[in-house]
Formats: sequence, C-alpha cells, structure tokens
Amino acid sequence: MGAIKIAENVHWVGVRDPQLRKFDIIMNTRYGTTYNAYLVRGEKTALIDASKADFTGQFLDNVREIIPLSQIDYLVVNHTEPDHSGAITALLEENPRIDLLCSGAAIPFVKNVINLERPIRGVKDNEILDLGGKKLRFLLTPYMHWPDTMMEFLEEDGILFSCDGFAAHLSDDSLFTEAIEKDVDFEFHYYWDAIMRPFSNYIRKNLLKLDGLDIKIIAPSHGPVFRENPRQYIERYKDWTADKSAGRNLVTVFYASSYGNTKLLGESIGAGLMKEGFELSYCDAENCEPESVRAAIEASRGVLLGTPTMNGDAVKPIWDIINLFSTVSSVGKKAAVFGSFGWGGEGIKLVADRLSGLKLKVFEENFRARLVPSETELNEIAAYCSRLAAFLNS
Ligand code: FEO
Repeated sequence: MGAIKIAENVHWVGVRDPQLRKFDIIMNTRYGTTYNAYLVRGEKTALIDASKADFTGQFLDNVREIIPLSQIDYLVVNHTEPDHSGAITALLEENPRIDLLCSGAAIPFVKNVINLERPIRGVKDNEILDLGGKKLRFLLTPYMHWPDTMMEFLEEDGILFSCDGFAAHLSDDSLFTEAIEKDVDFEFHYYWDAIMRPFSNYIRKNLLKLDGLDIKIIAPSHGPVFRENPRQYIERYKDWTADKSAGRNLVTVFYASSYGNTKLLGESIGAGLMKEGFELSYCDAENCEPESVRAAIEASRGVLLGTPTMNGDAVKPIWDIINLFSTVSSVGKKAAVFGSFGWGGEGIKLVADRLSGLKLKVFEENFRARLVPSETELNEIAAYCSRLAAFLNS
C-alpha cells in the first residue's frame, strides 16, 4: 500500500514493517510496526522524516506517488534514530538540493548519519517554516525521547507531527485508529512504558508546549494516526509522566538478606529515617514484582539498597532491582547503600558505584557491618541517619 491522504496536500508516505517482532532489542512488537513519514505540500514541499534503511525503496516509491523526488524542498529530521534516518542518504542521492532541517542538537548526529559535507540547518523553538499556504511551527522537545527530538505543528490543518511521542508499534491496513481493531490502547501505553517513561521529567515539561495548540490530528512516527479526540492521548501522557514523588517524603529500602543481618540494618536505618520525618517502605528484593519496584523508585524521594556480599559481588536480586532503574525516571534521585558482610564487603561498593554510573546521587557514606550488627554499630545508626537525612533533604 502506498501513500495515504491525511488532509489536503498532506500525505503519509511511510512504510509498514508488519513482520517485525522485536524493536530496538527491548520491545516485543506483536503487530510489527510502521516507520511513518509525511509529505506536506504548499508552494514548497517538506518531507517529514524518512524510514529505516531496509525499506528505502518502498519509502521513496511512496513519496513518488505524490511528487517527483526532485520537487522536495525540505527534509525535516525530527530525530536521528536509524529507524527514521536510515533512508536519508539514498534520498539525498536522488535529490542533493534538499535543505536539511533539524534541531540544533541533531546537527552532529545528522552529519554522522549522512557522512557528507553539506549544510544542515538547526531550527529554533517556535520558528515557522512558511511553505506558501502551509506553515510548519517547530517545537523543540528534547528527550522525548532523544536529546535532539523535535515536533511540528501544521497550523492550517491542526496536525501535530509528534516524532516518537504518542507513537505505538502497530502495523495495520488502516492508518487511522478508528478503523483499527487491534488493541491500540495497550500498544500506546506499552510504547510509552518502554520508550518514554525514563524521560518523564523532560516529557512533563515538553507537553506544556502543546497546551495552546488546536490539535485536530496527531501524526506520530510509528503506528496509527489519531484524529478522534487527539487531546485524550496528550492527557494520558500527562497522567503517566506526573511527578509521583511530589508531595511525599517517601524512602524505599530495597534489600536482600540471607541470614537477616542486612535486613536488620535496613530496618534500623529505616526507623532512624522515620524519626527524621520520612515515610518508609520496604521491599525484599527476592519477592518484589518488577512493576512494583519501578513504581516505588518513581514514588520515592530517595532509595536505599542493602546487599550482602557473596563471592566478591552484590547478590543477583539486588542487581535485578538495579537493572530496573534505567527503565524509569531515576536520574538525579538520591540513594544510599548498606549491607552486612563476612570478608571484604565488596558488593556494597559495587552497588554504590553502579548507582553513580546510572546518574543517581549517592550518599558518600555506605553503612557496613561485619556479620551480626553489634550494639555499638546499631547505636551509630541514629547519627548516620541524621547525616543521611540532611543529604536526602539537600
Ligand atoms: Fe522510532 Fe526514536 O525512533
């Protein structure tokens, strides 16, 4: 199937990939996906995004259904991930006169995609590209989900070209949600959860840029185009990206403990933090569901991780918890590490280093106790918690 009309002189010219069953290693795609691109024609013509390299022939043929490639004036690159930029080089071979437009942050990435010496123009937030009869307003939306991401609002038709925002991996004969019988809502949420959720703090701010726009159609980079009550999809993103830790003073203690010693330390530190005014929650790493861990990370002002050391390492249930941090918005969150150990206690430092590597702010003091915490060590916890509370409140 070729080009599809969305509005007067606006066409979808993307491609379908219905057989894809895994996207970017991290997502299952039971309905495949599409790589959406859009052609907007005024007196001049802008092509918004390209396709994955494997689909270059189909993509260029779809554009040719509407106009010869030689008549494209602008290629708007909304971000540079290869599933949308892979066909750019072939397009430029067909029409070297195309002006490349992208965000300023995307310029070095575009250079690395095309590996050609040629002008690439970075657009400004709210800048308008007047095509003659069609005006595209650029909206810079960094980290939604790449640092270079931007969107456009086509003012005459109320179409938001939203890049990966509001996307879903779903390929269907129809492009429009109202005609699709597959579970669009599930895929819409799954896409947000797998791709967008780690960037919630950025997305929350970016969504404010859409508030004043009279959006009639949302045209994302994957999956269906939304033209029935499109605002509801923006509202869902607002709900999902809301700051879950706002108005709370929650600290969650994740621990693993073979003989109860690390657990005792966690509970003692938790009790100390309660006296400092914090709300406490505990999670035995061997018995928590991944989604509850992810929700707890997002809801917490700070997280504590307690691990014993086995064979010079932290234990697997704790590493499993840590592997979930990058799947949610955790950058900059406060953390501290503790644990009981027998010989070297290396696992405690390894956990602290890994959390720092994930860009959490890690308290410089790890609380350690050899084997059974002594009364002296337990008595030190009150002072430790006082210092830790100051860190969490800073
Ligand atoms: Fe669909 Fe971020 O690429």
